[in-house]
Amino acid sequence: MTYLRNAWYAALWSEMLGQGTVARRMLDEPILFYRDSGGRAVALANRCPHRFAPLDRGIIIGDEVQCGYHGLRFAPDGRCRYSPQTPEAPPAARIRSYPIAERDTILWIWMGHAEDADPGLIPAYPVLNDDREHRTVRGYYRSAGHYQLVIDNLMDLTHPEFVHAGSLGSPDLNRACYEVERAGPRSVRSNRWYTHGASPPAFERFFPTAGRQVEHWVDMLWTAPANLALTVGITLSDTPRSEGRESLSLHLLSPETATHTHYLFSSTRSHSLDSVEQDRRSLETIRHAFEMEDSPMLAAVQANMGTSDLWSLRPLILPGDAGAVRARRLLDKLIREEVALDAGKIPVDQGSI
Ligand code: FES
Ligand SMILES: [Fe+2]
Repeated sequence: MTYLRNAWYAALWSEMLGQGTVARRMLDEPILFYRDSGGRAVALANRCPHRFAPLDRGIIIGDEVQCGYHGLRFAPDGRCRYSPQTPEAPPAARIRSYPIAERDTILWIWMGHAEDADPGLIPAYPVLNDDREHRTVRGYYRSAGHYQLVIDNLMDLTHPEFVHAGSLGSPDLNRACYEVERAGPRSVRSNRWYTHGASPPAFERFFPTAGRQVEHWVDMLWTAPANLALTVGITLSDTPRSEGRESLSLHLLSPETATHTHYLFSSTRSHSLDSVEQDRRSLETIRHAFEMEDSPMLAAVQANMGTSDLWSLRPLILPGDAGAVRARRLLDKLIREEVALDAGKIPVDQGSI
């Protein structure tokens, strides 16, 4: 499976990494996360070079992780610092250390060449740091489905009418204005909106309309490889958007394997900042949508597709697929360029995306 490697993947929310270790398979590689004695996050290959024990079965001692099988100890740079059976640590006892950055309360990992890790490529989500004007709830779940299927599902703003009928979906969204555009060298925007239509049922709880028509907008911004920011807003028709309600949700994905995806989700609101009840409702709405609606559909789609590449199955393309197709093409292009660069070839421009 070919992934974009020279890229930052959101691995964990900051609070998910405390005193202990977290083990994750990402891009088909076993990875161990922990914090050193100064609280800095560390990401190492979760496989001891001796007998390949997962290092998360060991313990953290100071800045180092000690293998739980025969006691080799590894530092954050991946070098072995202590070997119980030899006077010196064997130079060959070394594991891969991944660049990691903690930004906006997200732990980002760089899966490519360490020397190419460019913090400037980390998507910025500063709203996560702001607890004066905003309130964020968030969590993690492991989703069925190839990560590109999950991206497709998020870029596809036409499925809510059917998959989330009775909650997030609104029939008017399928007949709404739709715009897809490149939003940067590694980003695609997919926006859908209408100015006069019915309010989606789930919105009535926090934005009662008493049957009046609303303006509703759903703007998705995908940034390679798998980071999506969704702005959803509602206001009464013919009133300024600023008088309505708007929320931002993040969908930060990373491939686990070819069939499963790590999914960090968050929802940030600018109203009811102190309401624990609203927190509970938001989390419940998200979990219900993911676990009861999106995830079963993605699992069923994946089962029907097997491990075939989407394009090899010659899918029918509908107008609402424009955002997903554009993101896929851009990601494919970035992967091709990376593979060509790694092979020492000059990347070929594959045309406009
Ligand atoms: S497997 Fe880790 S020290 Fe032997
Ligand atoms: Fe969905």
